[in-house]
Amino acid sequence: MNKEFEKRRRKLAKLIGKDGIAVIPTASTRVRSRDTDYPYRPGSDFYYFTGFSEPNAVMILAPGREDGPFIVCLREKNPLTEIWDGHMEGLNGVKKNYEADQSFDIEDLETILSSLFLGRQKVFFTLGQDEVLDKTLMKSFNAVRAGQRRGGVVPSEIQALEPLVDEMRLIKSKYEISLMKKSAKISVDAHKRIFENCKPGVFEYQIEADIIHEFGKHGAVPAYTSIVASGQNACTLHYISNRDKMKAGQLLLTDAGCENEMYAADITRTIPVSGEYSKEQKEIYELVLEVQKNAINSIKPGQTFEGLQSDAIKGLTKGLKKLGLLKGRVDQLIKSEAYKDFYMHGIGHWLGMDVHDVGSYMDQKGKSRKFENGMVLTIEPGIYISKKNKNVPNQYRGIGIRIEDDVLVTKSGCDVLTKALPKEIGEIESIMARN
Ligand code: GLY
Ligand code: MN
Ligand code: MN
Repeated sequence: MNKEFEKRRRKLAKLIGKDGIAVIPTASTRVRSRDTDYPYRPGSDFYYFTGFSEPNAVMILAPGREDGPFIVCLREKNPLTEIWDGHMEGLNGVKKNYEADQSFDIEDLETILSSLFLGRQKVFFTLGQDEVLDKTLMKSFNAVRAGQRRGGVVPSEIQALEPLVDEMRLIKSKYEISLMKKSAKISVDAHKRIFENCKPGVFEYQIEADIIHEFGKHGAVPAYTSIVASGQNACTLHYISNRDKMKAGQLLLTDAGCENEMYAADITRTIPVSGEYSKEQKEIYELVLEVQKNAINSIKPGQTFEGLQSDAIKGLTKGLKKLGLLKGRVDQLIKSEAYKDFYMHGIGHWLGMDVHDVGSYMDQKGKSRKFENGMVLTIEPGIYISKKNKNVPNQYRGIGIRIEDDVLVTKSGCDVLTKALPKEIGEIESIMARN
């Protein structure tokens, strides 16, 4: 496994060059309440290059350095802390188990950075993520520049590291794809459980508990707070309070995906609480499903988010017009963005270690970026009809439907990582009929 991390470091080293040096911190711990922290999650970039999960650590990559390019500053091993918080790798452990060429006490970061900056022209570092670290780095940067009178090369600029790392993370390796397939499978199983346990009288938080339990059975956690939205709650796009009791006749929109070994899945299904879709629910569902399937079918290298979104808008507008929910000429309705009353978000996003993963959506010319083999993204059209929308017949008001799958772009097309989860009306109704 260390091979994968090493390969990534080698690639980054090439990108920053022998006169550059990169500094990548992990995430900070965060207080949840008084002296209780949120469960710790390492920074995605830091983990991507190290595989190391302890807090309070900074990785430094100095290509061509005599004592080795890969340096980690971390907490010294402390037996007293270990009694409370468990094993710490310490300065030796990170060399032995994570292949660091050298390690230093994080307390000495400022001086370590100053000495490593000597002889380098560019410091690659993303400012603005951690105020304390920004200050430390600037102090080292200024200190080494102030010493320039003594001669030798010192850095003259700090360059954002993000774009280089984002580009790397955007294209997933075989190993990453295997992890993402695992996250997808666990998440599919959690949604299948929802199909089984969804019925009138059950609370949204009970469905959420099922999801967390299914994730937890596999050592995974939610990649984001699950949206468990019954009835018109589905029209609140980021509904996460999950407090309501489900009623017969409603739909249940669940947007839930796990994070397993640092990789996310992101799935949405919308199912009928009492097992069967009403006529109006069915009409809207079929429309969203058709648009979603068309989008997926058109994914291959060269496709773009802009292309997908524009096709989705066309499909949804035509469909809404056919159902009588929008009136007028389709081209006019598109031009006036009339569809935005029903569909007000994007068609999808990059997916990876972060649920809204890194990676530019534009190419260097400012055009929507062309998909490439190894990219992973979500496809998630939806229709949300506000309860307050007086322009549509009453039976449609309060319906919110989204269908979301995770898709890997392949050489010749795509592979739907979440395809094992049914989404056809017939399939869903027949599963729910067994409950
Ligand atoms: N679950 C967040 C999203 O679908 O983008
Ligand atoms: Mn999504
Ligand atoms: Mn989602």
